[in-house]
Amino acid sequence: MENLKVHTFYSPNKIILGMNTTSMVPEEIKKLGGGRLLLVTDPGVVQAGLSVRVEESLKKENLDYVLYDAVEPEPPARVIDGGAEIFKSEKCSMILGLGGGSSLDVAKGISLLVTNGGKILDYCGIDRVPQKGAPLMLMPTTAGTGSEVTRVLVLTDEALNLKNVVFTPHALADTAIVDPALTLSMPPGVTADTGMDAMVHAIETYVSMNATVFSDVLAEHAIELIARYLPLAWAKGSNSEARYQMSVASTIAGLAFGSGGLGAVHALAYPLGTEYHMTHGRTNAIMLPHVMQYNISGSPVKYARIAQLTGRDIQGCSAIEAAALSVAAIKELLKSINVSCHIADYGVSKNDLPKLVDGGMKQARLFVPNPRDLSEQDVHSIYEEAF
Ligand SMILES: [Fe+2]
Repeated sequence: MENLKVHTFYSPNKIILGMNTTSMVPEEIKKLGGGRLLLVTDPGVVQAGLSVRVEESLKKENLDYVLYDAVEPEPPARVIDGGAEIFKSEKCSMILGLGGGSSLDVAKGISLLVTNGGKILDYCGIDRVPQKGAPLMLMPTTAGTGSEVTRVLVLTDEALNLKNVVFTPHALADTAIVDPALTLSMPPGVTADTGMDAMVHAIETYVSMNATVFSDVLAEHAIELIARYLPLAWAKGSNSEARYQMSVASTIAGLAFGSGGLGAVHALAYPLGTEYHMTHGRTNAIMLPHVMQYNISGSPVKYARIAQLTGRDIQGCSAIEAAALSVAAIKELLKSINVSCHIADYGVSKNDLPKLVDGGMKQARLFVPNPRDLSEQDVHSIYEEAF
């Protein structure tokens, strides 16, 4: 019975969210026991001058650290294994991950490896990590992935040319510090893609069969904030209120999907990313309205609520009519941030559709929580619609 359902919630031990909270890093590190720190990031974050800000705050307090800035996008397992080697050889005692989803996921993986031993590919799957990792602090520099608050890390198995995941509560941060000031310099394209990733997290979780009382309240608030502030953050990167609200939204959307789960948007976006090397956020953004349209009959009341949360007047509409307005609202949002939701605009040819369908069907585990069942034919029609 729906109203007697079991609700579970996962989150980091502590989340600090606020403008310029980077200055709080040293005291929070001391609270976690201090010691030599491995600062995990990628060359883009270093180049943007964001790691320097953290490094300066560490130097001011004479905190010892080693920089590991070898993170690659869609991080290969070897980047995590290599980081764990450096942690050990440099005799570090805790980890700070700074960056987008890739850097945060690598930091999580290193933390797990240094206490559990072995290679990260040994732990792929659900709940296969026996012990808690080394003390872990995570700081996002984008507003989208939500990785700073989730228990999952995504990596690439290069030998099999496959993405894989490690799902474990031990990957949850001890402390997540979300400083919207670190997102101010994101270019518009990255703002759009990462912001839409957060929107997909919120919407997919909200309509998921696994939604909980916790994910519902968080997702509703995230949807409302993103609809309102993403265009502002995209149009004017220095708008600190918009950046602030997008950081709030992506963090709570991360908490929502961390306890509720994803669905068919992430499943059907995945092959676009592997075949055409588009970002995770962009592929999700492209597929979102098409999957929403398909899903309406599975969760009309929740889609109707999304229409309201995205600013539509649903008075006098039936649930199905109101739900359809949510799709229109998302299309309008995408248009306002210059993101096309037609895969033909990204160099995909009609002959590629069977390959996409194959790739999408491989993610069928994500169809289970989706509010409407999908057959291979259905997946084909969704891609055709997206084309
Ligand atoms: Fe995502």
